[in-house]
Amino acid sequence: MITLALSKGRIFDETLPLLAAAGIEVLENPEKSRKLILPTNRPDVQVVLVRASDVPTYVEYGGADVGVCGKDTLIEHEAEWGINGLFQPLDLQIAKCRMSVAVRADFDYAHAVRQGARLSVATKYTAIAREFFATKGVHVDLIKLYGSMELAPLTGLADAIVDLVSTGNTLKANQLVEVEHIMDISSRLVVNQAALKVKQSQLRPLIQTFTQAVAARAA
Ligand code: PRP
Repeated sequence: MITLALSKGRIFDETLPLLAAAGIEVLENPEKSRKLILPTNRPDVQVVLVRASDVPTYVEYGGADVGVCGKDTLIEHEAEWGINGLFQPLDLQIAKCRMSVAVRADFDYAHAVRQGARLSVATKYTAIAREFFATKGVHVDLIKLYGSMELAPLTGLADAIVDLVSTGNTLKANQLVEVEHIMDISSRLVVNQAALKVKQSQLRPLIQTFTQAVAARAA
């Protein structure tokens, strides 16, 4: 049996066509079912639904053989726990977005980030934020949040946020402006290294089909 860890939403939706290229069809809709283990048309493949930030943990410890998660999630996981026994063979080029710094439109960011200044930054992505501002030589007070980051500058909790931006609609709806583009984000295939050896005959073809499907799309 191959177990694939996915998170609901964009990653799940955008992984489906890649699975289809490998002849794998998930037989239940996670938006309608309460099941956490979803069968597929292949008796030897199942999907487990986990929180996005739990995907590396499931794959690393063998709760799943493979998983799909964002580059952001991998960086944060690595900073907190290290990455052991986790092989990253492929950028799937799905769930693309960017990690950015945003502030209130009336906030003088350029002045605030001059060398030696101090800035309060609210984010779920503390490792990425810490590294980014350290490189710029800006001292930051990081405030860890788990969601609705956009509220932080609006309520006076923080000067800035570091968050994912896709369409930019959430920032716009909350009168925030993007002032720095930290990095581009996309989702990666991650594989348990031990599973790659033990289940080689099942996993290698899957990785190969995904690789071809990603290349075909880019062409
Ligand atoms: C992300 C991010 C923003 C939003 C940006 O949240 O945190 O809130 O998407 O998208 P947009 O630029 O297209 O408006 P997500 O919906 O992934 O949920 P989260 O708050 O749990 O991270």
